[in-house]
Amino acid sequence: MVTGASVGIGAAVARALVQQGLKVVGCARTVGNIEELAAECKSAGYPGTLIPYRCDLSNEEDILAMFSAIRSQHSGVDICINNAGLGRPDSLLSGSTSGWKEMLNVNVLALSICTREAYQSMKERNVDDGHIININSMSGHRVVPQSVTHFYSATKYAVTALTEGLRQELREAQTHIRATCISPGFVETQFAFRLHDKDPEKAAATYEHIKCLQPEDVTEAVIYVLSTPPHVQIGDIQMRPTEQVT
Ligand SMILES: NC(=O)c1ccc[n+]([C@@H]2O[C@H](COP(=O)([O-])OP(=O)(O)OC[C@H]3O[C@@H](n4cnc5c(N)ncnc54)[C@H](OP(=O)(O)O)[C@@H]3O)[C@@H](O)[C@H]2O)c1
Repeated sequence: MVTGASVGIGAAVARALVQQGLKVVGCARTVGNIEELAAECKSAGYPGTLIPYRCDLSNEEDILAMFSAIRSQHSGVDICINNAGLGRPDSLLSGSTSGWKEMLNVNVLALSICTREAYQSMKERNVDDGHIININSMSGHRVVPQSVTHFYSATKYAVTALTEGLRQELREAQTHIRATCISPGFVETQFAFRLHDKDPEKAAATYEHIKCLQPEDVTEAVIYVLSTPPHVQIGDIQMRPTEQVT
């Protein structure tokens, strides 16, 4: 399962996994984009399949309904890629509570709910080689002096803690299920356009000032993590554009 598979990193990851022969449930609100991607994968002759699922991850009922549909139609989740995420330009001194809640709901709570449900799905089917990959950010490792990123950064620090906490709980449970996060710097996607939705020029400038990572660069990290032998647990991959300063 890949969350946020409608655009950006999630769409690229879903495509790459289908190309590798996996059956992928891709979810997001804009399910039409995922349907188009599924058709694209099919006509390209990729060996896997992409199954689009409409889900608003800020709504727990939607998430639980999706896991229940995956259970009844596809038996369960073996690999959970928590990719969906967003930034809102709400600073700590004057930002709106609704922007903070949206970031918390998707970046932290949905990721945690999907992780719990994916683990339970693996456990009930005795899947001992599953993988949970969280798409974190360099913002989960240092705070840059830009007020619009401060609350977002707090949600990504949470992802750093959640990934390591998950690794520890998986060890306590004596499973071989692995937990990894991937922490990119600037990746050219819709992210900045959604963050600065009232200022598209500012958003475009984000991706023009340096040569950014492409979604496919992050995808390669995901494929690498999934390709490692069972005794190798990758905790975090930090990857920035070479020209990025922060
Ligand atoms: N781009 C960067 O520079 C960058 C850097 C570091 C980390 N990241 C992280 O990478 C991940 C992917 O971001 P991206 O750059 O690919 O951004 P993006 O192009 O804006 O894509 C975000 C994805 O998240 C989904 N999403 C957002 N809110 C959702 C909701 N309530 N329910 C379901 N899906 C939701 C969107 O789908 P719908 O809108 O269709 O629902 C979309 O598929 C995020 O976790 C982000 O924090 C990005």
